[in-house]
Amino acid sequence: MERSVITLNRFILEEERRYPEATGAFSNVLQDLTLAAKLINRAVNQAGLVDILGETDRENVHGEQVQKLDEYAHEVIVAAMDHGGHLCVMGSEEAEEIVPIPDRFPVGEYVLLFDPLDGSSNIEANISIGTIFSVYRRVTDPAVTRNGTLEDCLQPGTDLVASGYFLYGSSTILVYTTGRGVHGFTLDPSIGEFLLSHPNITFPDPGQKVYAINEGYFGRWSEAQRNLVRRLRGDAGGDDGDGFKLRYVGSLVADFHRTLLYGGLFMYPSDNRHPSGKLRLLYEAGPLAFVCEQAGGKATNGEKRILEIRPEELHQRTPLFIGTAEWVEMAGEHLAREAAAGA
Ligand code: AHG
Ligand code: MN
Ligand code: MN
Repeated sequence: MERSVITLNRFILEEERRYPEATGAFSNVLQDLTLAAKLINRAVNQAGLVDILGETDRENVHGEQVQKLDEYAHEVIVAAMDHGGHLCVMGSEEAEEIVPIPDRFPVGEYVLLFDPLDGSSNIEANISIGTIFSVYRRVTDPAVTRNGTLEDCLQPGTDLVASGYFLYGSSTILVYTTGRGVHGFTLDPSIGEFLLSHPNITFPDPGQKVYAINEGYFGRWSEAQRNLVRRLRGDAGGDDGDGFKLRYVGSLVADFHRTLLYGGLFMYPSDNRHPSGKLRLLYEAGPLAFVCEQAGGKATNGEKRILEIRPEELHQRTPLFIGTAEWVEMAGEHLAREAAAGA
């Protein structure tokens, strides 16, 4: 008897029935976003065949070389999302300012923030990349201003309505949460449908002892951060320390997804070139922190819960320690202890 095939649409409808307060509007946001992801996925899969690779002559707001696929992904998402009447404003890693809803389209009660293509530096090497998204409710009064504003975008993660990511890898998957657990769907390209493949994802217990960090920056870190990594990789010798192994893809979505399914600790700490860390709060650390906590993990900036950080600017960066709760806590305690000892 073939396992019942649960499409994303069927899952969303069943969730709506189970939670009457869930309005259909969010479901439409997710369905529109899924169309955009299918288009991005197609471009990613054909990237080597069409002239979509290679670098543009543009840099994004962060001074990073924008790969054509970043721009394409940004444009696809905006075009898929701006007319549905569910959003009042958008924010994108690839747009310096907020992205308004054109006057010719109705506005709605949600806010969408996204990293259209995460892991851009990996595109040409056919390494997994992804799209990360956050959904908030509008906080400004539509009677006062039709369009959503920057204020609608600058909300703490504790106010997230939903968040998740698409991972364009050996298969194409969607992982998201609306605050009622974490669910994973795998795209069946033969029918163009995302099918429920990972219901109720939770961190494994015990999880694999894996740490993920760009060790190439060892020289840029604080002494406390260096000592933490020395401990994880067993520099003290003897019983091979804490017995962790290292995995680092360089695409946050891929590193996080492995951490979620296998367990582990992903770190992107601040360093002497990125005093506030490299990853962006609103469309990288925040959405993944919501998924992480819903799956039983923890996400901090080394000291404070990511979801409690109140953003002050659209592209605000933050250090990120995310993964198996036990190890995020251990990292935080280590850093606090060394700070107290004046490391
Ligand atoms: P993006 O491609 O959206 O700019 O994100 C890249 C980020 C993230 O995906 C990854 O974890 C991190 O950059 C890797 O940075 P390093 O190359 O400095 O390790
Ligand atoms: Mn990114
Ligand atoms: Mn990006």
